[in-house]
Parts: sequence; structure tokens; C-alpha cells
Amino acid sequence: MSRWENEIVKAASILSVSTKTVVMSGAGVSAESNIPTFRDAGGLWDQMDPVEAGTADNLFAQLEQNADKLKPILNDLLNAFGKAEPNPGHTALFDLEKMGILKTVITQNIDNLHREAGNTDIIEMHGNMFQMRCLGCGHKAILDRKSYVSDIEEKLKTITKLDFSAIVSLALHCEHCSSIMRPDVVMFGEEVQAMSESFQAAQDSDAMLVLGTSGVVYPAAYLPFEAKKAGAGIIVINPKENPFDKITDVYIPMKTGEALPAIVQEIRNQAGAS
Ligand code: APR
Repeated sequence: MSRWENEIVKAASILSVSTKTVVMSGAGVSAESNIPTFRDAGGLWDQMDPVEAGTADNLFAQLEQNADKLKPILNDLLNAFGKAEPNPGHTALFDLEKMGILKTVITQNIDNLHREAGNTDIIEMHGNMFQMRCLGCGHKAILDRKSYVSDIEEKLKTITKLDFSAIVSLALHCEHCSSIMRPDVVMFGEEVQAMSESFQAAQDSDAMLVLGTSGVVYPAAYLPFEAKKAGAGIIVINPKENPFDKITDVYIPMKTGEALPAIVQEIRNQAGAS
């Protein structure tokens, strides 16, 4: 009997009658895939300044000035991205889609793991590291994550000075117009992707699973409030904090990789019992 059995049962009762559940996920969902979060102790923003590292033009300057410090961090990140697999939390969300409960996954994550877990209706508000966007014609292409990472790791081994030209040498070129392509991720100061679709999905939802997010970055952090206004049941899963405690119907202080499979199992139990 899990310590949070009552919360699991309550969450399952909300979801079992839902046909338009929406997920709003953050880095915590991928923590159990060994991808570091941003704001946990030892997280990415402990290792580098978010504004410097998260802003496009600063990033290049940072890479040139602090290459010795940043290169190992980038290598660790590439290694994590290359080895990561969808975890039981990701696969439980695909189960919820197959059960006709979960409609849309709105994620702040750029790691492609919700797609690889099988979910088909995904909004990546901060983009996707493995989707390339052509700076010339705007063409987009999704890459195979593992082969892209191993390709970059090999190229990085040959680079002695991590300056702007070295970074450009890592870039792929568009198959349509041969221009340089960049990872289709949203840097600080850039507009998030698919904001109106995200807000519409939240406003149309009848339940929202708020998973593994510190809720400090907007406009993503508005979405649970939009869902609440629409009458959706708000279920928050986060082992450390509940940034949405004023609007939460069920708070489960567990890891998503443990809580979500338990909720799916409870929904099946409830269906079997009825
Ligand atoms: N299961 C569920 N939640 C977890 C787990 C886990 N296994 N491990 C950690 N968490 C929680 C932490 O308690 C924290 O609240 O996940 C949250 C991670 O918070 P952040 O690191 O701030 O990540 P996120 O909320 O996604 O950040 C939002 O900030 O820097 C920007 O663009 C970046 O998309 C990112 C945005």
C-alpha cells in the first residue's frame, strides 16, 4: 500500500471519467531518464547561468569565453541525451492516450521523450533539441536522437577551440536550400511555440496532469490556471513542491515514474470493479 494510495485513487477517479485530459510537463518527468532538471540541487542552472547559457547570442560568447567550463557540461548533457530512454512515467502517459483519456501533452521539455514513448498529440512549447529548423527556408526535420548525439560527440572530439566557427561546423545543412539548420529550441527572449494551441487545449480540458515542473516559467505556468477556469480537475505530481497548491484538486508528492503507472493501474482496477 503506497503512502499516497488515497491520492492515487482520487486521481484515478478524476481521470477515469475524463476524455480530454491535458498534460503540462516539465523537466522532472525526464529526471528518471537521467536527464538533469534545471532548478533541482545540482541541476543545469547550478552549473551555468540560465540567461548566459539560455540566450542564443550570449551562448556563443559564453562558449568562446568559458569553453573550458562549458565543454564538460555540454559533454555530460550530450551523454545524458544520448543514453536517455522514455521512463515508466512517459509510457504511462501513452497508456492514458490509448485508454482514450489523455488528449494532448503540452511539454516544456526539449528531449523528444514524450514522442518516443508513443504519444501522438504533443505541443513542445520550448521546442525540440532533435528537430532542426533551416535558417534559410524554415524547413523542419526531426532527427534520430541517438545517432544525432553520437555524431555531435564524434565531431566535438576533433574540436580544440569551441569558438563560433567551431559551433557552426557542427551545424547541419538544409536538404532543400543548403542553408545552416539550428536546433528548433526556444532560447530566453524568443517566443514560445504554439502558445495559442496550448491555451486552447488547456481551456478545452476536463482534467490536467501537472507533472515535474517548478512552475516558474511563463507562459507555460499559466496553463494550469486556464484549465482550472475551464472546470478541469488539477492533479499535480512532484516529489518536492506544488507550485499550484491554490488550484490543486489532488497533489501527489511522488516521482512521476512511480505515481503515473500506479494511477493507470488504479484506473484499470476501477474499470474492472465496475
Ligand atoms: N518526478 C516528478 N517531478 C520531479 C522529479 C521526478 N522524478 N524530479 C524532480 N522533479 C521536480 C522538481 O521538484 C521540480 O519542481 O521537477 C521540477 C523541475 O523543475 P525545473 O528544473 O525548474 O524544470 P521546469 O519546471 O521544466 O523548468 C521550466 O525553465 O529554464 C527553463 O526552458 C527551461 O523548460 C525549462 C523551464
